[in-house]
Amino acid sequence: MADAETLPRTPPQILGPFYPFMHKPIENGDLTSGGKAIGTVLHLSGRILTDDGAPIVNARVEIWQANANGRYAHPNDTTEPALDPAFHGFAVVHTDSEGRYAVTTIRPRAYQVTPGRWRPAHIHFQVDSSSERLVTQMYFAGDQYNDIDPWRNSTARADALTVDPVTRPDGSQEATFDIVMMRA
Ligand SMILES: [Fe+2]
Repeated sequence: MADAETLPRTPPQILGPFYPFMHKPIENGDLTSGGKAIGTVLHLSGRILTDDGAPIVNARVEIWQANANGRYAHPNDTTEPALDPAFHGFAVVHTDSEGRYAVTTIRPRAYQVTPGRWRPAHIHFQVDSSSERLVTQMYFAGDQYNDIDPWRNSTARADALTVDPVTRPDGSQEATFDIVMMRA
């Protein structure tokens, strides 16, 4: 058999200060409390693949993020934007037999890290396969802070971390974010 084509691996990103160690993750894939959370609902899905294009079955996919106001439910986030009791910003899901994961969340908002310094809206990922743990972040096309964010641009391939959601007739959005990891 010829060598399989090699997909470029998804660039890693920093874990960041808001990993929600003190919360239990949602495990049913719905971070919005059945659509009650404030903000634009985002149907986010994708495949976890190895760099030869094979699906990674039963990968553990952790997702955490700020809410629609740009606030994390985390003791280290002492900023002003309001918490949203209906938004649970931490989930764990597992990939199916085709390497697919899916969550329903909301579009996070950009947030201020220090006075005058903002991070673009993003969603954190930590993915465990049998071969590696990948920590990364997903960004949104068109965010005004994308090009000036040192963490996003710590990779030359920030485009591989950036999605451009499509709006559905009901006003919610959908986006696909595939992740490529090391072969076992
Ligand atoms: Fe963050």
